[in-house]
Amino acid sequence: MSSKDSVGGTLKVALLLCVVCSIFISSAAVILKPLQEANKTLDRNKNILAAAGMYDAAVTPESEVADLFAQFTPRIVDLDAGEFLDETRLSALGIDPATYDQRAVQNAAEFSDALSGEEDIAGLKRRVRYATVYLVSDANGEIQDIVLPISGYGLWGTMYGYLALEGDGNTVKGIGYYDQKETPGLGGEVVNPRWKALWPGKQVYDQNGAVALSVVKGGGQGIHQVDGLSGASLTSRGVDNMIEFWMGPMGFGPFLDNLTNR
Ligand SMILES: Cc1cc2nc3c(=O)[nH]c(=O)nc-3n(C[C@H](O)[C@H](O)[C@H](O)COP(=O)(O)O)c2cc1C
Repeated sequence: MSSKDSVGGTLKVALLLCVVCSIFISSAAVILKPLQEANKTLDRNKNILAAAGMYDAAVTPESEVADLFAQFTPRIVDLDAGEFLDETRLSALGIDPATYDQRAVQNAAEFSDALSGEEDIAGLKRRVRYATVYLVSDANGEIQDIVLPISGYGLWGTMYGYLALEGDGNTVKGIGYYDQKETPGLGGEVVNPRWKALWPGKQVYDQNGAVALSVVKGGGQGIHQVDGLSGASLTSRGVDNMIEFWMGPMGFGPFLDNLTNR
């Protein structure tokens, strides 16, 4: 019997094959990582633009996304203080506004705090201390668009999206979810353009500065109401809860108050 056919020979060939394959797979992972990161960023940018009504996958060429997104300035907000982090605090915290990923630090003790049952109306368990907001200003420095990340539990899992407001920090420009696990045709209709079209023009706050925007089944006529999704009351309630949380005192409320001198 030649050594090729022996058990040892077979094992050697199998081992060699494993080593070659693992080198190939690891190299592919390392080589493709920058491409994956670039695609993730492109996708995030498209979602931010779409929430602000500046991108429509059906008509906007992908080549225009970078130029459109260049209008936005990402800033990091200290949610408790309701203020932007300055350069000193950003560097002390090791945060780069262009790359900071608040979802990645959602459960990190040094970047987030546990929410009490009473506070946790959006089912998040923890709240990040610092959140990225995306701003567009005109030539005079007046803020035109404010895009805010929002998240909260639907029926099947946490839904992630953006809510875009006009420069008044009150009038809705649009909403968009880019990651959610709701049932297609039911809760998954949160991504339906027809439902999203109900949002622009609605007002988040009432005259007293309290969060008034809500998702109401069979409602939607008022300036503060958006009609709920039919057959998906639980997802609709999830959206309603996350608006109340993120626009309120635990979310962007203090920041929007400061920004707009309310
Ligand atoms: C397989 C299945 C999937 C469902 N998915 C959702 C969903 O994604 N979101 C939701 O709110 N309700 C979903 N429901 C329906 C809820 O159980 C519940 O009936 C519904 O939210 C009530 O809404 P309505 O008061 O508008 O009828 C699903 C039901 C079934 C059987």
